[in-house]
Amino acid sequence: MKHLIEKLEQSRRLTGEEYLALLQHRDPPTTACLRERAVAVRKEHFGNTVYVRGLIEVTNYCKNDCYYCGIRRGNRKAERYRLTKEQILECCALGYELGFRTFVLQGGEDPYFTDDILADILKEMRGGYPDCAITLSFGERSRASYQRFFDAGANRYLLRHETACAEHYRRLHPEPLTLEHRKQCLYALKEIGYQVGTGFMVGSPGQTLEHLAQDLCFIQEFQPQMVGLGPFIPHQDTCFAAEPSGTVELTTFLLSVLRLMIPNLLLPSTTALGTIDPFGREKGIEAGANVVMPNLSPVSVRKSYALYDNKICTGEEAAECKLGLERRMQAIGYEVVTQRGDFSPIP
Ligand code: 5AD
Repeated sequence: MKHLIEKLEQSRRLTGEEYLALLQHRDPPTTACLRERAVAVRKEHFGNTVYVRGLIEVTNYCKNDCYYCGIRRGNRKAERYRLTKEQILECCALGYELGFRTFVLQGGEDPYFTDDILADILKEMRGGYPDCAITLSFGERSRASYQRFFDAGANRYLLRHETACAEHYRRLHPEPLTLEHRKQCLYALKEIGYQVGTGFMVGSPGQTLEHLAQDLCFIQEFQPQMVGLGPFIPHQDTCFAAEPSGTVELTTFLLSVLRLMIPNLLLPSTTALGTIDPFGREKGIEAGANVVMPNLSPVSVRKSYALYDNKICTGEEAAECKLGLERRMQAIGYEVVTQRGDFSPIP
């Protein structure tokens, strides 16, 4: 498999068959070699720095009913909340004080947050924090909405494709959601000028290695600036409650592949990875990830933003959360930095 790893590092692309072959041969020497190359490439582009993003979970209302997600519309047990504009701005003020220079506003697809309401919040944030990056993660919207948010000051948008296989997409999402529309949104975001993040869950129900090879091919073609990748974790109040979680092993393997495919990629070591393993986020960084996203949401709503069971950091204040991560990164020889860390093209 070494020749495939070399080819990936040199040319930054493989065929679908080659990605599949790599995924099928994850023996210890292959994994070690892949990780070693990924860490070397990461070092070349980012040294030992880890970027930090302050995550603000704005609303857990959602009009969608994705089978895997704890805040799906059909979950009657979810305690719903929405932050007010004032609460969101308070999170930013606290975050700025703590050194965050990227704010990520994330939420379910909540019709309450109309274009007017969101654009108004964004303008205020942009005015108050001209030196900060603003990332949005509010799912699928019209091209016109995306344009409005961009004009109001948003710079980045996260929208995971979840799976690049239309049939598998259908197994995870009921109508009217489709992979095709999801992809249209992603291309629209890119055209507007956002730094765009996509991604998928590892080990989602029904997922095969062939699907993952397709995911890698899609990412190779789309060339996102960011990729969000975490293990699937079941949520007790969903149809997939009894399904097994994704593994640290496969997730970190994929992080390494992505680092070689797009060397300057912004690649978070996710909360989901930290949830299935006490050192999951460290393992993600040591596989080639370079971003961490501590939670800036008010502690009072943390537990309600439960996409999956046993999510970590639901009881900590933002300051503790960030300090904890800084210490963890230091302990493995990495340094959390406050720069806003935009995607910079390779010259
Ligand atoms: N396990 C892991 N990740 C999940 N997400 C949603 N539900 C789960 C789950 N049960 C991820 C999706 C979504 C992101 C915000 O969270 O990939 O895009």
